[in-house]
Amino acid sequence: MPVNREQTIAEGVRERLRAARGVFVLTGAGVSAESGVPTFRGGADTAVWKGLPFDVISSAGMIARDLPAVWEWFDYRRGVLSHCRPNPAHAALACWQDRFERFTLATQNVDGLHAAAGSRGVLELHGNVWRARCLACGCTEDIREMGGGERPPACRACGEWMRPDVVLFGEMLPVDVWAEAAGRAGGCDVCLVVGTSAIVYPAAGLPVAARRAGAYLVEVNPELTPLSEVCDATFRGPAGEVLPRLDF
Ligand code: APR
Repeated sequence: MPVNREQTIAEGVRERLRAARGVFVLTGAGVSAESGVPTFRGGADTAVWKGLPFDVISSAGMIARDLPAVWEWFDYRRGVLSHCRPNPAHAALACWQDRFERFTLATQNVDGLHAAAGSRGVLELHGNVWRARCLACGCTEDIREMGGGERPPACRACGEWMRPDVVLFGEMLPVDVWAEAAGRAGGCDVCLVVGTSAIVYPAAGLPVAARRAGAYLVEVNPELTPLSEVCDATFRGPAGEVLPRLDF
């Protein structure tokens, strides 16, 4: 995008942000790309693990078929993530949280990097890889605080097996998290969509709902997405460069 044109768009977005009382941000894998977290789609690194596409190994059916393999896959992902740190995009969003009457950050990411950057109350639509959940009683535990490497781990409350607390393909989003995200999206003045291919539902429906309810819709993504054409403003660049420049 020519520099002058981007500056004009950025100034328009800054004005919207200055006037906004409610801001809703939806992030996807792209916001963590500059931290070294591989995205799922696009690029050369489309995830395949031990010959299984990520949407097979990360599916509800695998929990029933092969829970140890699911743990192995998520242990591998945690190993990759343990070297990743928040980038300037996470940092910019963490700074924004106290600047509006209502600010909501909803993410499809399970990497925990928004919280690591200082964001509070992040709505984790797809769960968190650093958490385990009991298959029987539903209680959760921080994997980093669990002793031993037993796989699958046993629940300390009831002794049953635990699973990664991540929403897998074929599963519902956590009802309370979803309800809060849908309510916040429907009541915002500005909705910012950062680093998502916007094809995985229901999360991808949040910006559409925000736009329908009258929000000003902004996208930050180096690539076009199905959302691009309904956006009021788009930035075709990496989030770690665009968001800090958007400061208002
Ligand atoms: N800055 C911003 N966007 C970027 C960057 C970057 N530096 N690098 C890549 N992107 C964009 C890509 O252009 C792409 O549109 O990030 C998007 C990543 O898309 P996906 O890999 O599909 O990730 P996401 O949209 O988060 O996937 C949604 O699908 O597999 C499931 O549960 C998984 O939460 C995930 C969901």
